[in-house]
Amino acid sequence: MTEQPRKTAAPAPPGVMVIFGAGGDLAKRKLFPALYNLMKQGLLPQQFRVVVVDRRDRDADAYRDFIDSEARPFIDKDASATLWQELLQRIHYFNGDFQQPDTYARMATLLDELDKNYQTGGNCLFYLATPPGFFGDIALQLQAAGLATQKDGQWRHLVVEKPFGRDLQSARALNKTLQQAFNEDQIYRIDHYLGKETVQNILMYRFANSTVEPIWNRRYIDHVQITVSESIGVGTRGGYYDQAGALRDMIPNHLLALLSTVTMEPANSVDGNAVRDEQAKILKAIQPILPEQVLTQTVRGQYGAGAGSAAYRDEDRVDPNSSTETFVAMKLMIDTWRWAGVPFYVRTGKRMPGRYTEIAVQFKPAPNMMFHDSLLRREQVPPNTLVLRIQPNEGIGMSFNAKVPSPIPQLSPVEMDFSYSNYFGDGPTTGYETLLYECMNGDPTLFKRADVIESGWSLVQPVLDVWQALPPREFPNYASGSWGPQEADDLIRRDGRSWRPCKNCHVDN
Ligand code: BG6
Repeated sequence: MTEQPRKTAAPAPPGVMVIFGAGGDLAKRKLFPALYNLMKQGLLPQQFRVVVVDRRDRDADAYRDFIDSEARPFIDKDASATLWQELLQRIHYFNGDFQQPDTYARMATLLDELDKNYQTGGNCLFYLATPPGFFGDIALQLQAAGLATQKDGQWRHLVVEKPFGRDLQSARALNKTLQQAFNEDQIYRIDHYLGKETVQNILMYRFANSTVEPIWNRRYIDHVQITVSESIGVGTRGGYYDQAGALRDMIPNHLLALLSTVTMEPANSVDGNAVRDEQAKILKAIQPILPEQVLTQTVRGQYGAGAGSAAYRDEDRVDPNSSTETFVAMKLMIDTWRWAGVPFYVRTGKRMPGRYTEIAVQFKPAPNMMFHDSLLRREQVPPNTLVLRIQPNEGIGMSFNAKVPSPIPQLSPVEMDFSYSNYFGDGPTTGYETLLYECMNGDPTLFKRADVIESGWSLVQPVLDVWQALPPREFPNYASGSWGPQEADDLIRRDGRSWRPCKNCHVDN
């Protein structure tokens, strides 16, 4: 293993992180583990405090005990107990009802006290980890209490989790409300896929290597497949998921984040808006799916029982007659010079055979095959494929054809492989470390701008409408533990192609 030296960054500026909905899953699974990892890397300043806002009547010690036991499974096994305790001691418990103005008046007093006692500089990151119905209200209440105002060089940032709306109209309405309370440059909309190291690496791979860009276009690329396959079902999230479905849950956000990162034009700088401008442009260039194309360009599925797992309709808090999809596949085209004519096939689903996310870029076949005598016929020589492995086993693989050592001319596909862990070791990461750090530093590059959110919803809106008007007749249509419905195979086979088989499926339960 060749471990590379890491650049050391400066700690984030002083500040307070106020977590609304601190009794929920996100705080224990992601936020506290990420804060711990930042602290371990020396990226949290001494003058950093956490205010946890919850409606439960408990005190700071009770909350510390709760987060200590609940977050432990999600922090590094070798975590330093001293450092973890130090983080817990920075917690201030704040009991309050999100809808009461008095809550925010008391919060203003607490923030002033923290500033005086811990020199937090009046800086605040308000993190909305509540059910989405509260997002708009909390933002408006913060503003009414004067907490959104940035004076004397202080910053006030609002972090909004997903789901961001449930369709185009509600996403627009939410944007409007948030922008009444905060300026757009104070709003940090999270898409945790953008926090993944491997997603961030796509830009570095594409734009820091001179051999990649010349072939990254329609002249050399035949098509691209993006797969986000999950082996888990809906677990305890049936209540949310049955109202959302795979399309809303994954496509306008995570899948389009991957697609835009892989297809955008180089930005002039890494300045927050330069990169986001390019992402916004490419999203606008995706061909709209017309209502009459929905049934041929998209596929929906719902898992039935299989491989020892229950059917979706039998999951906790799911309607036994539910027509919510747990799988979606789509074919998308992009109207730009670079991508005209190159199909992008995307698919995502629950209860598939493995957990993996990858982007597979398949190149066109060699134009002429001079190896007539090789044991492989031309149509059997596989095309070169470049695979960006987002998770697990993060890395980049390239397949090409090589000669098998033998007097008989024979070709065989082989692979070149770069694996993150071999080069850089395994860093404990939740994906939220970079997002929190960038937000504290005021760098919005990895966060979604209002127009990007709305472009995502605009693309899927016709699909939502047609699917709602024409409920599925054959749900469930794929067995748990399978690759989704037959129609997904048909979607890509109609173009003479097939889904790339999973090479390193990793089943997580
Ligand atoms: C979430 C979705 O945003 O992303 C979940 O709501 C999904 O349904 C999850 O399981 C996938 O994230 P990851 O990081 O596990 O790929």
